Amino acid sequence: MRINSTFDPMDNFVVSARKYRPTTFNDVVGQLSITSTLKNAIKNKHLAQAFLFCGPRGVGKTTCARILAKTINCLNLGEDTEPCNQCESCTSFNNSHSFNIHELDAASNNSVDDIRSLIDQVRFAPQVGKFSIYIIDEVHMLSQAAFNAFLKTLEEPPPHAIFILATTERHKILPTILSRCQIFDFNRISIDDIAKHLEYVAKSENIQADSDALHIIAQKADGAMRDSLSMFDQLVSFAGNHLTYKAVIDNLNILDYDYYFKIVDSIIGKKIPDSLLLFDEILRNGFDGHQFITGLGTHLRNLMVCLDPETLKLLEVGQNIKEKYLNQSQLCNARYILACLEITNRADSAYRTSKNQRLTVELALMQLCSYGAGGEQVSTTEKKN
Ligand SMILES: Nc1ncnc2c1ncn2[C@@H]1O[C@H](COP(=O)(O)OP(=O)(O)OP(=O)(O)O)[C@@H](O)[C@H]1O
Ligand SMILES: [Mg+2]
Ligand SMILES: [Zn+2]
Repeated sequence: MRINSTFDPMDNFVVSARKYRPTTFNDVVGQLSITSTLKNAIKNKHLAQAFLFCGPRGVGKTTCARILAKTINCLNLGEDTEPCNQCESCTSFNNSHSFNIHELDAASNNSVDDIRSLIDQVRFAPQVGKFSIYIIDEVHMLSQAAFNAFLKTLEEPPPHAIFILATTERHKILPTILSRCQIFDFNRISIDDIAKHLEYVAKSENIQADSDALHIIAQKADGAMRDSLSMFDQLVSFAGNHLTYKAVIDNLNILDYDYYFKIVDSIIGKKIPDSLLLFDEILRNGFDGHQFITGLGTHLRNLMVCLDPETLKLLEVGQNIKEKYLNQSQLCNARYILACLEITNRADSAYRTSKNQRLTVELALMQLCSYGAGGEQVSTTEKKN
């Protein structure tokens, strides 16, 4: 019963990462080769007794472990090998009181005793369904002694037991354990896939979100879906129901694409003073010179991939920004961009050891602005070859 009856809108707030956790293989984004292999194994009844899911954080390891466990025990498996989410086994798991799917979070239960009590359970055949499934999350956190205790069971598990281990740190897992598991390497999720998923979440939440804004979030998340969803929540709570590109770059402290477009305009126009002034403005806005020069490299790379329709798909940005890239790329050819990339790359390597880092970047800008000025050098308007 509520004691305090004042309305608090946060009461019902469920973070998006939890609210939108996939419950079927088809809902999992960007791990298609893994989900289809798992589905096939279930369909062909070719299940390993131990699985190890490894990969970076927030890409769906725990999620897939749960879906796999649920699917294996589903009493009503559909045509497409997806859990029905309705049978006794599925519902009891979804309500987190399943009798045959056990989860151990090794991050908080890593002692020998924790593993022993789990091993004790392993002997018993399941009450519902065919298999008893043990999900051991963050398995690298088990103590040495717990690992050793676990090893015996993993060596000779009873036929009804299946283990699904998950970890971000594969290198910390003993080779003896690795060799007993079927290993699945989860990928970082691509910017486009993350942006698409965020778009779906935004739509479901009635939030108007600019495509460019979502792409920036996806880019900043660096392959982790959970991070992107947490950022999304945070930005929505700050910016309200309309998520704009501006709100996102201001909040995530990201150097606006516009700066790079302007810098490259001044480079193409051979305007040294403009480029130096822009760089000064960037520094005064609190950005770091190294961040700027690596960002400029990325910008040039993006212009390069615009030059060929084949590589255009490597440009992972929102729609408006894509058009800007295409327009700017019309002003350059491949040889010119390559030469510019070499200059930024040199500055990037020299930056860390430079005694005057500002000058390192400024020199690069001066070189960039001077490039193409001489007789035998390529003119910026020369046709693409
Ligand atoms: N591939 C994905 N498709 C859709 N949503 C995902 C995916 N990966 C992660 N998520 C979202 O992120 C949340 C966390 O995912 P999950 O717990 O599966 O990550 P994890 O790989 O186990 O990360 P960690 O290593 O930090 O434990 C999920 O609840 C879900 O909302
Ligand atoms: Mg996890
Ligand atoms: Zn079911």
